[in-house]
This record gives sequence, structure tokens and C-alpha cells, in this order.
Amino acid sequence: MFRALLVVVASLNIVTAENGLNAWLRYAPLQNVNSHHLTLPSTIIALNTSKASSVYTAGLELQKGLQGIFSQVVKISNYTHKTSSALIVGTVDDYSKIYGDGDDAPDLDEDGFWLNTKGDTIKILGQNERGALYGAFEYLSMLAQGDFSGISSVNNPNQPIRWVNQWDNMDGSIERGYGGPSLFFKNGGIVDDLTRVSEYGRLLASIRVNGIIINNVNANATLLSPQNIQGLGRIADVFRPYGIQVGISLNFASPTAVGGLTTFDPLDSGVISFWTNITDQIYKRIPDFAGYLVKANSEGQPGPLTYNRTLAEGANMFAKILDPYSGVVMFRAFVYNQLNESDWKADRANAAVQFFEPLDGKFADNVVVQIKYGPIDFQVREPVSPLFANLRNTSTAVELQVAQEYLGQQCHLVYLAPLWKTILDFDLRVDRKASKVSDIISRERFNRPLGGSAAVVNAGTNTTWLGSHMAMSNLYAYGRLAWDPSDEPEDILQDWIRLTFGLDPKVRDTITKMSMQSWPAYEQYSGNLGLQTLTDITGNHFGPKPQSQDDNGWGQWTRADHTTIGMDRTVANGTGFSGTYPPEIANMYENIATTPDNLLLWFHHVNYTHVLHSGKTVIQYFYDAHYSGAEIEQTFVKMWESLKGKIDDERYEHVLYRQTFQAGHSITWRDAINNFYWNLSGIPDEAKRVGHHPWRVEVESMVLDGYTVVPVTPFETASNYTAVITSSNTTAGIATMKLEFASGTYDLAVNYFDVIGGRAHWQVYLNDKSVGEWIGNHEDTLGHAVSVNLDGHTASRITFKGIKIAKGDMLKIVGTPNGTERAPLDYVAVLPAGVID
Ligand code: GCU
Repeated sequence: MFRALLVVVASLNIVTAENGLNAWLRYAPLQNVNSHHLTLPSTIIALNTSKASSVYTAGLELQKGLQGIFSQVVKISNYTHKTSSALIVGTVDDYSKIYGDGDDAPDLDEDGFWLNTKGDTIKILGQNERGALYGAFEYLSMLAQGDFSGISSVNNPNQPIRWVNQWDNMDGSIERGYGGPSLFFKNGGIVDDLTRVSEYGRLLASIRVNGIIINNVNANATLLSPQNIQGLGRIADVFRPYGIQVGISLNFASPTAVGGLTTFDPLDSGVISFWTNITDQIYKRIPDFAGYLVKANSEGQPGPLTYNRTLAEGANMFAKILDPYSGVVMFRAFVYNQLNESDWKADRANAAVQFFEPLDGKFADNVVVQIKYGPIDFQVREPVSPLFANLRNTSTAVELQVAQEYLGQQCHLVYLAPLWKTILDFDLRVDRKASKVSDIISRERFNRPLGGSAAVVNAGTNTTWLGSHMAMSNLYAYGRLAWDPSDEPEDILQDWIRLTFGLDPKVRDTITKMSMQSWPAYEQYSGNLGLQTLTDITGNHFGPKPQSQDDNGWGQWTRADHTTIGMDRTVANGTGFSGTYPPEIANMYENIATTPDNLLLWFHHVNYTHVLHSGKTVIQYFYDAHYSGAEIEQTFVKMWESLKGKIDDERYEHVLYRQTFQAGHSITWRDAINNFYWNLSGIPDEAKRVGHHPWRVEVESMVLDGYTVVPVTPFETASNYTAVITSSNTTAGIATMKLEFASGTYDLAVNYFDVIGGRAHWQVYLNDKSVGEWIGNHEDTLGHAVSVNLDGHTASRITFKGIKIAKGDMLKIVGTPNGTERAPLDYVAVLPAGVID
């Protein structure tokens, strides 16, 4: 029997505390606004009853979803007898075999599915079991968003490889991970309890990810021990019901590190037997093992070049061993050497093409060259890697980074789908023909056997997965774009918002506005005009430190001096990088007149007074962009505050904390970059903002008792280049001053440094009456320990709002040190309404 149900669609969510674990798979109950009549199925028929099957998983997921959304328990039936009100999930083949009427099923590509909600029976049929599971998630996603339309929809993936890469270490830490310790490893082995791994599998399957590399590209050979291979087997068993294949990163020198050999030469027969034996052991335990990811001859990692073998010879050794098992080698193109900046022609951006273009066509068919989206390293703005255009006879995949290593490390909101879209949609014009990156990695453009996407995700055991609820839009969007790169970032985002935070239009519009502005804003207050992120590249890549780009061998140079800035990458006079693109693109970048402003300094070395297409000079653009980016960040806090009560308190407070941190940190970024280039160029800001802070009180100019003035390094990360710290580790410091601002109501912003090593306490008084206090505990609250120093990573701001101040009031701050955190202070800003200083 049909069960007709009155369904009501939410304008208000049920606001119960949530910790983020279910991410976009919450299946929150729908609430009242419009009424719809929906017929829920009376039975779910899953056409495979084996627990390892994705079809079985799909049945359970459908049951869970319907129960969550509609509070209805729908039975899962083992009988395949079709009743008219059934929901049937399975493969097209199984459906046809059982019911004999599958002829109306459309042709599907591998992993594709057909979702038909139009007839009496709801049919979710996959080309394979994985496809059936994807179809189940799609159906539930529609229902959870209040979409009950009758559809018959065919969904096929754009590309076969849709993987994530985790950079987890065997000790349980995660390189560039900001969401807590590893889901997989602890103390050199695989964790016992794999519950969270299963939950991760569920999330990944819902965005149609079909493979995962579980360990760091800087790989540890001890992963290959027999015991750890058994552990890998347990992980693969947990991912299998979600249709996710497991692979691992390899250390090229494993034959010497753990195999007792004296060489890791890929052409050596002993080395080949070592890897064959390891691979056989792995496939014995994990017959559907995905394959290997290899970082070779890069950043100190061993590789075939040590033995004068080519990178292709290294990759092909693994390819040959994996081939009988249908395994794949993902071979990373992130290979470069240290360079000397005094050589005007030296350019790290040239490295990938120099290493890989001569090898085009020499890689085995089951090798995929995995290429970071830009030629350097996940920067806020880079041109597309020209390697995509140079490998016509090699399968390629794009490497994206959900972990925001150079983009605020999950402490700043930066929605990345618009950035990725600029890459995927970029037309490289190979042979003057349409050659979009997405068509190259999908195999279409060069007709390759393999291709796809990999994203560095680095999810951890924090219940938010990434350390931040908002950062999860990036993981969601990654999966969606890998499946269909023609999807629009804003549409993807809004699905994510509805699924994550409910159907309230105000919630949707607010988070949409914040997210869509977030990448441009981050670019404005970090590195502009193609200059890269300008973070501390020799440190932890979080806060500002523009001088770290130059005078070292890393090749992320800006070549900034007193009068000029930018990398000359032209063929005519520079590194020749622009010439590594096909002619139409090369010409565009070779000429300053046709280079877009946002990549000007990537390709050209110009005066600070060079006039952009926009009509501004380079230096004035820096100043203006940094002011505008930081200003936008302040509005995000207000926008988020307007959602109070519309989102459960737990997630509301979590996001508010991060947005407030980001608003303060964006001001640190703004001032650091502006002061740095003002100092270097000597050219003042036309708008007279840089270096002029009328509402600030420098703590070093207050009366200090128990506080000592210290210089800050890098200088530009402190206002007036100095700060104060308590004179000892044990005694409180006091800073006092008479305020001479006109009487009125102000926001009192205090800039301080929150370093690792203690949880200092500060209290602010006006005329001996406390107006606020706080603790330096970003270690706990941001969950992201950043630096022991007073610098651009630790500079933080706290604001006490609506404080009544009378002219002549005494301001006093008492800082109590804790551990090695000596209650550092930078300045106080006394801000009239609407002023940001
Ligand atoms: C960056 C990152 C490293 C990582 C490397 C890679 O340089 O900072 O942590 O190992 O990329 O992608 O291999």
C-alpha cells in the first residue's frame, strides 16, 4: 500500500546542538511552511544482502535518511517481490535479472546511476554497486532539501578517478592537518577502533569519491610491515561497503629502509622482487586495492633520479607490478629543485614541464601524472599548470587542496570552489582547439585511458572533521566538481548549506554571501596581483611574512626591491615560463597589455608605480585591496551574528569564534603587508591609511609596570613594530594610560599575541572597573597550535563592544603570564561605531 504523508518543508529548523559529525548527512526533520504530499515507500528492496556490498549500504542509508527526515521507519525487505510502493536499489544488471523489465534503464558509464522517482516504484539503479549507493545519496539529498519532484535522471561521472589524499603520518599526526589527529594511525600502527573511518567513508561516498590514499606523500616505509598490511586490510574492509578503494603513498627508498637491500634502483631485479612481493601481499589481503601514490625526487624524498633512471622508469616499475591487479600508479608532478635567486632565468614554475614533458608518452597506461593546479604550491592565485597542455600522451589528474594550507588553515573561511572552477574551466587552447582542463583530466581531450582528480583533505578525529564547520563546504564541493565540473560553485554551496544548516532562506543567503566573497577577500588581504599568498613560506604557511618569499632557494620569489616587484616569466626577458603554454595562452601572458591584472606580478617585473588595467598603480592597489579585504571580513562577523537562533548554539558559537578570529587576523594581514611594502617602496598610501592609526594606543607608550618592550620579528606584524611582554614568567604586568578620546561609546579592540606554551590571562579595566578579560588559549579554541613567537601567526585581536568611555578615563590592562606565554600585548584600538583601525 502507498503511504501518503503530509510533508512540511522547513522555514525553521529544529535547533538542537550539533557537533558536525554528520556534516551534510544530518537528515534533519523537515518542518512546516508549504505542504506537499509525498508518497514514502513502504519497503526498501536492496538487491544485495551481503554486508560488504554498497547496495546493502544503500539500503541502510535510505532507511536512516527516511527515518531522520520523516520520522518513518521503512522496512528493508529481503524479498525481491516488487510491490507497487517499493523503493528498489541495486545494479541495472541485478534489476534486469530479477525483474526482467530493466530494458527501460538507460546506458550508464562506470559508477553512473539512474534515479527514477516518477513511477509507482522508486528505482535507484547503478551501473555498478557503487553507482547504486550514489543514487541513494542523491535521492536522500533531494528529500533532505525538501525537493520531492518526480524525476528520471541519469547521472554519469565526468572522470573515473575521484580520490582524496590524506597526509597522515604513522605516529598519528597529520601533515598540514587542522582537524586533530589521524583517523587511521597511532603509535606507528593502524588504530583499533575504525568507527570514524566508517563515518568518513560514508561522507566520501555521498560526494562520490571512489578512492583514498590514507598516508602522507612523505611516506614512511614501516607502513609496509606485515602487521600494518593486515591493518590496511581492516581499513579497506571498512571502506569497501562505501565503494571506496584504498591505496597508499610509497617511500621510494623502502627497499633499503625496510627491505634489507643496498639499493632502491627501480631497474634492479632485487628491488623489483621487493616491490612485487609487497604488492602481492597487499592484494592477497585487499583484492580491490586501488594502487600507489608516489612523491619521488621532491623536497628531499628519494626517487629514481638517484640512480640516473627517469621518473617514468620509476613510475613504470610500479605500474608493471600493479597491472595484473588493475592497480593504478598516481605519480606526482610536484618535482623541483632548490634554485638560486641571483639567476634571473631560474624558475621553480618551470620545473614540472622540464621534468615531465620529455617523458610524455613514456608512462605505462596505468600511470596517472598527478599535477597540482598551479605551477608552485596551492597559492591563493596561480595560473593553471602548463603541464596539462604538455602531456598529450599521458593520463593526468589535477591535485587540489581542501586542507587550506596556504589559505587560512581552517581558521579563515575561504570557499575554494570558485578558485578550483577558474582552473577546471581554463581553456589551454592546445593546437588552437578547445582544451579545458576539465576535459583533459576527464580523458576526453587527449583520449587517454585514465584521468581525474585528487584532493588533499587531511580530515582528522575532531568531530568537525576539518577543525571548522564552514571548511566542510570545500570537501563537499570537491566531490561535486570531480563528478561534474560544469556545476556552479554557488549552486553546490547552497545544497551544502541546506543540508548542513537547514532550509531557512536567511541562513542560505547569509552563508552564500559570506562564502562567495571569501576567496576574493582572502586574496585581497593576503597576496595580490599574482604575487602568491605572501605567508611565511619557510615557517608554517599561516600568517603574513612577505620577506620569506625571497633570498632562499625555494623559488617562490617576488623579486621585490625598493622600486620594482614581480617575477619576469616572459620568454623575451625572463624565465621563459610563459612560453611553456600553447601559443595563444603564451602570447596572452607574454604581453603585459594582455596579462590580466590578477596575474600581473606572476608574469612581469614592474615598478610599484606601474599602472594596472584598472587604472591604479600596483602599490596603491596593494593598499586598497588590503583595506577592502579586511573590511569585508569585519562584515562576516555581523552577518554570522544575524543567524543567532537560526542555527544550533554549538555550531553557531564555533563559527562565530572563528569568524571573529579571522576578522582580527585579516587586520594583522592588512597592516603587515601594507607596512612591509610601504617600508620597501617608500611610497605612501594616497588615502593616508597605511601607518596612520588615529584610534590606536600603542601599549609600549602606556605606563608599564612589570611589562618590557620588545621588538617583533617580522617587524611588520606588530603595530609600531614593537610589543610588550611581562618582565618575568611569573609576575603580572600592568599597562595604564589616560584616554583622551571624546566621551562616547566605543568598541575596545585589544591586539595581543597568543603563542604556544601557556594560557596567559588578560583583564581590561576602565577606572579600575573590569570591562573584559580573556585567555590566550588558541591552542584549545582554534585547535591549531601555530607558533611560539610574537609574529604574524600569533597576532590576534579581541574586541569588547559598546564600552562607554569618558574623556580622561584610565585604561588599565593586567596581563598574567602562564608557562612561556608572557601575556604579550601590541596595541589597543578605541573604535567609534563603524570605524575599523
Ligand atoms: C607542500 C607542503 C608539504 C607537502 C608538499 C607536497 O610543500 O607544504 O607539506 O609535503 O607540498 O605536496 O608534497
